[in-house]
Amino acid sequence: MPLKLQPTLLLSLAAAVYAQEQTLCDQFAVYASDQYIVNNNLWGESEGSGSQCTYVDSMSASGVTWSTTWDWSGGDGEVKSYAYSGLNSFNKLYVSDLSSIPTSVDWSYDNTNIDADVSYDLFTAADINHSTSSGDYELMIWLANYGGAQPLGSQISTATVGDTTWALWYGSNGSQQTYSFVSSSPQTSWTGDILEFFDYLSENQGFPASSQYLITVQFGTEPFTGGETTLTVNNWTAAVN
Ligand SMILES: *[C@@H]1O[C@H](CO)[C@@H](O)[C@H](O)[C@H]1NC(C)=O
Ligand SMILES: *[C@@H]1O[C@H](CO)[C@@H](O)[C@H](O)[C@H]1NC(C)=O
Ligand SMILES: *[C@@H]1O[C@H](CO)[C@@H](O)[C@H](O)[C@H]1NC(C)=O
Repeated sequence: MPLKLQPTLLLSLAAAVYAQEQTLCDQFAVYASDQYIVNNNLWGESEGSGSQCTYVDSMSASGVTWSTTWDWSGGDGEVKSYAYSGLNSFNKLYVSDLSSIPTSVDWSYDNTNIDADVSYDLFTAADINHSTSSGDYELMIWLANYGGAQPLGSQISTATVGDTTWALWYGSNGSQQTYSFVSSSPQTSWTGDILEFFDYLSENQGFPASSQYLITVQFGTEPFTGGETTLTVNNWTAAVN
C-alpha cells in the first residue's frame, strides 16, 4: 500500500532532518546526549570584551562534530572561555583502576593570528562528588598554542608520551595543581590514550593515581585574545574504560 504523507508532516520531517545544528551563544549554554556534552562555557568573558558562539553539527555514539567562532580583545593573558566537547557521564573510578582513556580528534582553526590553545582538559579529585569545574589535579594536553598563549606555571621538563615529546609545565592555583603537556607544533589530527599521560605523572611526578577519581574528560579551546576565528572540531571521540 503506498505511503501517503500529508504536506505538513513532510515539512516537519524535513525540519527534523535539517535542523540538527544547535547554536549555543549564552555564557554556559550546553547541548548534551547521555554520552557527550558540548558547552559554550564563556567562564572568563568578563576579563575582556567580545563574543563567542558554539555550534553542534552532530552528536552520536560515534562522535561529536562542532565548531566555535570567537572574537576577544582586552584582558591580555586572561582566558576568556573554554568551549568544549566532553564526556557527559561515565563511571567515576580511581585513575589507577582505569584500563584506558582512548580518544581521537581532527580539528582546524581558520585564522591562527590569535593567542589561544587547543587542548584536552581533565580533572581528578579525591572526593568522588567534587565539583566538575575544578579538581585537586588538572591534566591538560595542549595540541597547539598560538601567539602568546602559555600554560599555568612554568616548564619543569620534557616528557615523551605516546611517541611525542612534549614540554611539561606545572603550576598551581589555590588547591588545584595543573600539569600541562605542550606540543611543539600543532597536532591537528590526534589519536591517543590519555591514561598514558596519567601513568607518566604517577611514575615521574608523584601523581597519586590510587586516591584520585577521574571526574572530567574534555577537549576544546582557550582563547586569550584575537579573532574573528573559528575552531572546527571534526568527530571528537572519547571513552573511559
Ligand atoms: C569518528 O571516529 C571514530 C573513531 O575513529 C570512528 O569509529 C567513527 O566512525 C567516526 N565517526 C564519523 C561520523 O566519522
Ligand atoms: C557522593 O554523593 C552520593 C549521591 O549524593 C552519595 O550517596 C555519596 O555518599 C557521596 N559520597 C561521598 C564520599 O561523599
Ligand atoms: C585560579 O582560580 C580562580 C578561582 O577558580 C580563577 O578565577 C582564576 O581564573 C584561576 N587563575 C588561573 C591563572 O587559572
